[in-house]
Amino acid sequence: MCGIVGYIGVKEATPVLLKGLKKLEYRGYDSAGIAVLGGGGLEVCKAKGALKNLEEKVSALTSGAPASQAGFPEAQFSGTMGIGHTRWATHGEPSDINSHPHTDVSGKIAVVHNGIIENHGKIKEWLSGRGVSFRSETDTEVIAHLINYYYSGDILAAVQEALKRLEGSYALGIICENDRDHIIAVRKESPLVIGRGRGENLIASDVPALLAYTRDVYYLDDREIAVLSRDDVAFYNEDGERIRKTLSHVDWDAAAAEKGGYEHFMLKEINEQPKALTDTLRPRIIRDGQLSLRSVNLTEIGFDASWAEAKRVVICACGTAWHAAMVGKYAFEHFARIPSDAEIASEYRYRNPISSPRDICIIISQSGETADTLAALRLAKKNGGRIIAITNVVGSTLAREADLVMYTWAGPEIAVASTKAFTTQLMCVYLIALQTGFLRGHLDQEELDRHIAALEQIPAQAETVLAGKEAIQRFASLCFNKSKVFFIGRLFDYAASLESALKLKEISYTHSEAFAAGELKHGPIALADESTLVTALCTQEALFEKMDSNIKEVKARKASTSVITYDDVHHFDRSADTVFRIPRTPDCFTPMLSVIPCQLYAYYCSVLRGNDPDKPRNLAKSVTVE
Ligand code: M6R
Repeated sequence: MCGIVGYIGVKEATPVLLKGLKKLEYRGYDSAGIAVLGGGGLEVCKAKGALKNLEEKVSALTSGAPASQAGFPEAQFSGTMGIGHTRWATHGEPSDINSHPHTDVSGKIAVVHNGIIENHGKIKEWLSGRGVSFRSETDTEVIAHLINYYYSGDILAAVQEALKRLEGSYALGIICENDRDHIIAVRKESPLVIGRGRGENLIASDVPALLAYTRDVYYLDDREIAVLSRDDVAFYNEDGERIRKTLSHVDWDAAAAEKGGYEHFMLKEINEQPKALTDTLRPRIIRDGQLSLRSVNLTEIGFDASWAEAKRVVICACGTAWHAAMVGKYAFEHFARIPSDAEIASEYRYRNPISSPRDICIIISQSGETADTLAALRLAKKNGGRIIAITNVVGSTLAREADLVMYTWAGPEIAVASTKAFTTQLMCVYLIALQTGFLRGHLDQEELDRHIAALEQIPAQAETVLAGKEAIQRFASLCFNKSKVFFIGRLFDYAASLESALKLKEISYTHSEAFAAGELKHGPIALADESTLVTALCTQEALFEKMDSNIKEVKARKASTSVITYDDVHHFDRSADTVFRIPRTPDCFTPMLSVIPCQLYAYYCSVLRGNDPDKPRNLAKSVTVE
């Protein structure tokens, strides 16, 4: 989704803005722009396509002019405050004109926006009736004109008036040529972070854009306004009253958000899984009692016996996080014998779900900012449910609105395709399910200890799977052009199949689907032919025979077959064309391992097909609009 940056300080703003936008590229975009306020007044430059188009345009506009100390000409795009934007088109095609910043009729007010103004049509009509003509097809342009309509010398007051008219979601950065000392920032249901520096302050959609300047940040809450000057940041609530906000310190450093020698963020993040899994698991395990048996310690997040008394567990999420929810559903049934549902948040929010205050609702989101997921959270809350958030982003909206928060300590995930966030989400749901099972008396202390011991093996086992990456790469080089790829599995393997198919389709653009293996005969097998690759995830021991039959069935229709199974299992050696092996772990924990070869396979196919795995077409990292 769109990315916002803003800078006010003593440095030249243009390079700061361009650098900040680069850090937000991962969010997905199709055009970019900046507005800088300096000696030349308010200057705007926008370009469709990659950020380098904008950089070239800015540099062409400034070439020939005398360069200032910072390498930018004195007159053009030279100024110490400005705002920038990467746009992911929603209203109007990607084009220079539709890119942000958008300005008002006078060209003195510039606005960048992430989100959707739902009533923009009405406002546009209203403004048109007052003589305003529009240049773009965007919903955002109405904001600039509306602020101008209310402007009579005080930009903050004008923004406050304009906000009263806006419906929908927005994070906004606003500057005004008549006020060279302030940037106004606002948020409602779209992320925005304020970076507090020394003699300089910044805004950004996400922390990586700030890290070169500061690690001290304020997280804006919905409907709050920040007014940034060079030396201060003032905050206001929606009633216009001054409020105080707490400064948070971001622990991860800039290097954590860099590629660190890997060709792509995605490959780096796949390889970071052993560490991410360790970091997510270790702080939650303690050893108690005379026998020093392992227990799950979730007291840090406030999870006590009252949570385990729930009548039902509802797990809501989107995309990859929904696949983690599927695993969670199976895990809760398996360990805690508690009715559980995995819900797609975008469906759940529009149903009239039957819920009770005795439900616990687990909301999973890497970013903590996914619009549908947040809507599901709010609905569950309204219905009286108690909410546990599993998220990777400290201070995200999800983290702030949930009753309990369990962080996945995966570190920043930059690639659009989620990898380490997924496996760490699984680790979190397993821990909550195990603890619930223990508190409900379905697991005794020794069983719990045994399961935790297996979880403790997972990071090293993930390392072993990663060590086999060359075999996957070779396999990808033979199969990357298959036109259809199916992943099949049963139970926990079905959930892992869903995630594997999503990974492949989103970055390689191959048509891939996941099927519960037992469903093949009910339709999907009609698709199997010589152009099909079927990858069977086979780690549910009791169902090996069934899976073997499914493999033979698709093979008989000339599909190529590969299997992912345990390293000591030879059940499929004859039926499958290729077998990949993962270390032994209890059947219920295998998704954390079996998904890794599939992530690698998707990555290599993407590269072999000439795609950019970090920034797949049409996708955004954080889906902050519906
Ligand atoms: O930030 P979230 O976990 O809420 O994001 C949910 C989905 O948008 C996300 O998992 C998406 O499916 C990824 N592209 C998967 O790789």
